[in-house]
Amino acid sequence: MRNVILIGFMGVGKGSVAREVVEHSNYMTIDTDDLIESMQNRKIKDIFTNEGEDYFRKLEKNVAKWLEKSVKNTLISTGGGFYKQTNLKKVGIIVLLDSPFDAIIKRIKEHPNAQKKLKKRPLLADLKKAKELYEERRPEYLELADIVIDVTEKSVFECSKELLKKVKKYA
Ligand code: S3P
Repeated sequence: MRNVILIGFMGVGKGSVAREVVEHSNYMTIDTDDLIESMQNRKIKDIFTNEGEDYFRKLEKNVAKWLEKSVKNTLISTGGGFYKQTNLKKVGIIVLLDSPFDAIIKRIKEHPNAQKKLKKRPLLADLKKAKELYEERRPEYLELADIVIDVTEKSVFECSKELLKKVKKYA
């Protein structure tokens, strides 16, 4: 089994889809943000506040190198900016979870933990800037992805089924 890397904008549901895929397959899953938080023993938000975004990107680079060298047979969910790491093609099959910006924000706002979800993501603090970031990144996500899954109005179960079907064909 090759690694599968989930990319996509903040709040699109990478973690939820990853957990659902694990329920229905033999994949184990890890999350790049969780790895960074446990390595640093602090929250992403604190890293951004105290050290700045560039420092966070360096930590992501270390994770990307480690993934390439040491991780196999795994579904890797990533932070929304992790796709900028240049070795991802060597890590595994890249799957983009795609959705329009407004649908992503609606999804976050309808979540019972909406405030927490917004608060923990420094780059969502200003929605106008976040939209600009989305517009800038979306063509790059599409360019990089081997597989694209439009998650809009689909349940996590439907997304996970589609992912497993497409990955099987691709591998
Ligand atoms: C970021 C996305 C976040 C987290 C950090 C930066 C980004 O992860 O890595 O706040 O640059 O898009 P999620 O995509 O899980 O929110």
